[in-house]
Amino acid sequence: MSAATHPNALVDPAWVRALPKVELHVHVEGAARATTVADLARRHDVNLGVSDPADLYRYADLADFLRVFDLVCRVLVDADDIHRVTYESLQIAQWAGVRRREMFFSPTFLLRHGVPFATIWDGLSRGAADARHDFGIECGLIMDVDKPSGAAAATELLAMAESCDRALLIGIGGDAGERGVDLDAFAAPFAAARARGWRTTMHLGEEGPAADIRVGVDVLGVDRIDHGVSLVHDLALTAQVADQRIPVTCCPSSNVQIGIVASIADHPIAALRGAGVLVGVNSDNAEMFGVDMADELSNVSAAFEWAIDDLEDLCLAGVESSWLDDTAKQQMTAEFVAEMNGLRAAHGAPSRGEGT
Ligand code: HPA
Ligand code: ZN
Repeated sequence: MSAATHPNALVDPAWVRALPKVELHVHVEGAARATTVADLARRHDVNLGVSDPADLYRYADLADFLRVFDLVCRVLVDADDIHRVTYESLQIAQWAGVRRREMFFSPTFLLRHGVPFATIWDGLSRGAADARHDFGIECGLIMDVDKPSGAAAATELLAMAESCDRALLIGIGGDAGERGVDLDAFAAPFAAARARGWRTTMHLGEEGPAADIRVGVDVLGVDRIDHGVSLVHDLALTAQVADQRIPVTCCPSSNVQIGIVASIADHPIAALRGAGVLVGVNSDNAEMFGVDMADELSNVSAAFEWAIDDLEDLCLAGVESSWLDDTAKQQMTAEFVAEMNGLRAAHGAPSRGEGT
């Protein structure tokens, strides 16, 4: 999993891997291991057109990525398939030091292929519970509505999710393409989601302009912004997002591989961080992009010369950006800081705040 770790990373990759992390932007379908996708394709007689699904994992743009994502989704047929990819992806996350993950699922892709919502939820909920039991990793789920399918389809999805366990289904997001989508129309379903106690987030400013992010913040009232690459083009909005402490879940490798930015060094995460925005790094579609959280931290360390303090700050920003309640956030922050200081001691470095 660490093939993507940059050799110029400032911090020992093993130290980065051991840092405790919260991951907030990752799609379960795109985090399915390639070997599992191949196995399930054989079992369900799905022709992927290649013998190794990893050969599919090169993308011209977001639309091309979504075409491959849809192919991967075709192998997820029954609840045991969904259980398996959920469970395995959480095990891989734990190997990267992730303690809590708030993970997207995109039912529209599976519903289109005839998989009932109850089957999807059965697999996800059993996979998350088994991973928690076996690996100690906490997982909350975020149901993504498909933005191009429109607001009426989003309302239908919310109705399907009505009976899901609220301790597990913690929020509603929105993914897939941005171009030509009437984002204002999502005001009603997003307000309805909030009224039912769900938090909200949306993929905004990935391929779309900063104006899309403004709709998310001012009209939809999102609690987080996913990607937010184009936010830097609107300085006033950047300041507003920073002031309101609205987290931005950045996914630098995803944005490079989909062709949104030329390289990690060109990613606006450093500018956003410099402007005081609460940012974090995330794997997005871990297996489809060949990166995990540890790789991604090493990558930004190499690109921006970020040292251990910066990487720890990003991990702690993940706790603040999560949808835990304030008491749980304080407790997790204290645990993370204690662990970080333990790792520092093991590497002969002074504790946080004592100068490195
Ligand atoms: N962007 C948009 N939609 C998605 C993504 C993504 O990175 N992954 C899964 N659906
Ligand atoms: Zn995403």
